[in-house]
Amino acid sequence: MKKIAVLTSGGDSPGMNAAIRAVVRKAIYHDIEVYGVYQGYLGLINDNIKKLELGSVGDMIQRGGTFLYSARCPEFKEKEVRAKAIENLEKRGIEGLVVIGGDGSYRGAQRLSEEAKNLKTIGVPGTIDNDINGTDFTIGFDTALNTIIDAVDKIRDTASSHERTFIIEVMGRDAGDLALWSGLAAGAETILIPEVKSDIEEIAEKIQHGMDRGKKHSIIICAEGVMTGHQCGEELKKFINIDTRVSCLGHIQRGGTPTGMDRVLASRLGGYAVELLMQGDSAKAVGIQQNELTCTHFDEIFQAEHNIDKKMYNLAHQLSI
Ligand code: F6P
Repeated sequence: MKKIAVLTSGGDSPGMNAAIRAVVRKAIYHDIEVYGVYQGYLGLINDNIKKLELGSVGDMIQRGGTFLYSARCPEFKEKEVRAKAIENLEKRGIEGLVVIGGDGSYRGAQRLSEEAKNLKTIGVPGTIDNDINGTDFTIGFDTALNTIIDAVDKIRDTASSHERTFIIEVMGRDAGDLALWSGLAAGAETILIPEVKSDIEEIAEKIQHGMDRGKKHSIIICAEGVMTGHQCGEELKKFINIDTRVSCLGHIQRGGTPTGMDRVLASRLGGYAVELLMQGDSAKAVGIQQNELTCTHFDEIFQAEHNIDKKMYNLAHQLSI
């Protein structure tokens, strides 16, 4: 393999730059030319592709976001649109493509590997949601988790001063990992995640029970996929007369300098993606499972359901009585 390209796609996540850096440096180390595709699949269609050098990724490992930019590109579901992307890669002689993103981005990569005559694709899991099968952790999850914990710790100070119940809405449309992990780490009284049906009346009873025991404040972490923080507040008011406040953390969770864990993960996964391309693998995604680098076919990734750690969920519940 002589030429490869790399792109970032979907919601950005802290550590994507570190992953791009690893792809670029690892490839150049092995005398492979690397091209950066700007704006994800959109750049592939619009031919926004530029050669990257060692210096292109200098001073990048610590930066949040992605210097290649990212985009959501629904038109990439169209075969004719993908044909244009393939043409743009082929005219440069690019034989390998590393796609850093979530499983929506992997679907585009899978299609490309099927439709292009001479293109191998490898996915690298980059999303704060931690919702991709075939890996224990995604790039950006740890940073987002720490951002949430920091925010909840601060909110707890004011919740305690005013003896209030706070509802903190965190990201996660379909996956509750951010809510669960941050809830456990920040000592939340209640964690609402899409994977477990929530009973608002029961939550209200729990808050009341805590208040009866002298508990002055309460923290509820609500994943956006369950309902908004404001909806949660309204629902609670049907069962309990308390003064609630809502904080929606929003896109602050997607920014910031990546943690050490995310930089190391991104570097390992980015480097491994290049190794796989060099040995001829395609239509697979890299991952980390029990601290070992692994790779899994896209098909397998799409078939499996994303599950939360039930034991961890139960523990969080037990520790928050
Ligand atoms: O995919 C990551 C994510 O941050 C989700 O948690 C969130 O629901 C979504 O992206 C928001 O996407 P956008 O920035 O496109 O509104």
